[in-house]
Amino acid sequence: MQPLWASSELSAALGVEPDGSGSVSITGVSIDTRSLHHGDLFVALKDQRDGHDFVPAAFKAGASAALVSRSYSRQADDGILFRVSDPLDGLVGIGRAARQRLGKEARIVAVTGSAGKTGTKEMLRACLSRLGATHASEKSYNNHWGVPLTLARMPRDTQFGIFEIGMNHAGEIRPLTKMVRPHAAIITTVEAVHLEHFPSVEAIADAKGEIFEGLLPGGAAIIKYDNPYARRLVATASRFGARPVTFGFDSHADVRATDFRPSDAGSDFTVHLGGRTLSVHLAMPGRHIAENALAVAATLDAIGADVARGLAALSDLAPPNGRGARSLLCVGGGRALLIDESYNANPASMKAALATLGAVARETYARRIAVLGDMLELGNDAPALHAGLKGAIDAAGVDLVFACGPHMKGLYDALPAAMKGGYSLTSSSIETTLADHLRAGDVVMVKASNGTRLGAVVAALKSRFGKDGPAA
Ligand SMILES: Nc1ncnc2c1ncn2[C@@H]1O[C@H](COP(=O)(O)OP(=O)(O)OP(=O)(O)O)[C@@H](O)[C@H]1O
Ligand SMILES: [Mg+2]
Repeated sequence: MQPLWASSELSAALGVEPDGSGSVSITGVSIDTRSLHHGDLFVALKDQRDGHDFVPAAFKAGASAALVSRSYSRQADDGILFRVSDPLDGLVGIGRAARQRLGKEARIVAVTGSAGKTGTKEMLRACLSRLGATHASEKSYNNHWGVPLTLARMPRDTQFGIFEIGMNHAGEIRPLTKMVRPHAAIITTVEAVHLEHFPSVEAIADAKGEIFEGLLPGGAAIIKYDNPYARRLVATASRFGARPVTFGFDSHADVRATDFRPSDAGSDFTVHLGGRTLSVHLAMPGRHIAENALAVAATLDAIGADVARGLAALSDLAPPNGRGARSLLCVGGGRALLIDESYNANPASMKAALATLGAVARETYARRIAVLGDMLELGNDAPALHAGLKGAIDAAGVDLVFACGPHMKGLYDALPAAMKGGYSLTSSSIETTLADHLRAGDVVMVKASNGTRLGAVVAALKSRFGKDGPAA
């Protein structure tokens, strides 16, 4: 088997000869010595720390070469070095070469959106893995280093490549999508997030629309129909010569779902696309997740993949930890259902998660508890956007709310007394209060931005009440 990169290929991509003797074959690419594998190329990036400080550790851990800046002083046990003016630019160069060397039949997908990028990327990974050699971004590696790193890691025989692309500011997606050069680009949704850096949600839509600029000629622009910015994005796509394809529950969407039947184990629905209908079982609960699945269906179709075979993978794809994973807790001789949404939150995903909590069958879980922590990065609108969750809490029939963080205080104070379970400024004390209230037959949904640290509350609940394996 050929290695990921031969030394000569890297030299060509970087425009430099290696410093050091012997030939080298590279089996992976790493930017962190803690997760480096034997045979990796270590790329010394500057972030919180300067990666150059870790080059000796990288070689000790088995790196086969390192990509460093020209000014780096070789250390005693260092191996082969590729010296460039800026290792990040070097990584981009390797990423471009990885994209360039793919066969003509390979198909590339880029995913952005205000919420649901990783979830949609993982659904695509599951579906496309059934159809051919698939490579996808790790975690949420979606920024100026995450995208080129994912490209640089892409094996030469990749048939399907899936790239998550994110942004905090206008202009960030454009260079990334131009590196990826996708055949299909998805915008999952446009919502009021990252408002700190944008004058309006419309400006957010335009920044997301940049993803279409990297599409190959005639590529598909996959756009959510049920969104106020759909028309705007369709116009943007057309302006860049892309082929817009809309998805959603609306009867006007190009790829749409009917007969939506939610259950605690996920949902069932019928997908209509290109004159065909397909029955889909999705193992992840939530109407918003089903919408993402429609984007996946539209994408499979747009890149000429076998839609039915691909979508079959969704019937046993469980939600990841922190993004809707369900587990059972043993409480007072009975069971409680824990829904872990602690990884991420913005007003759109909060409302979606509350709606999903509201869809849990009362016959099985009689009392609905929401543990809500601060949503971050919302700028001046933060107080209003937190207070604005009241409607979604009521609509979901939530019985008890525990709240955490300075922004959640306003919402908590406005709740009726009977709904108040407890408030705390930080996440450290909320778990004990919650544990005192918990009883058999409860369903507990925990959600906040990752920085609010409710993940620790989830872990503490699991260890206190035992974990009975994943719930259906
Ligand atoms: N279409 C959607 N609308 C609203 N919320 C959604 C949608 N899709 C997923 N979510 C919710 O958004 C949260 C984040 O999901 P996910 O991690 O997939 O998003 P992301 O866009 O990758 O986030 P990040 O910007 O942190 O990488 C989860 O709680 C998920 O259930
Ligand atoms: Mg993500």
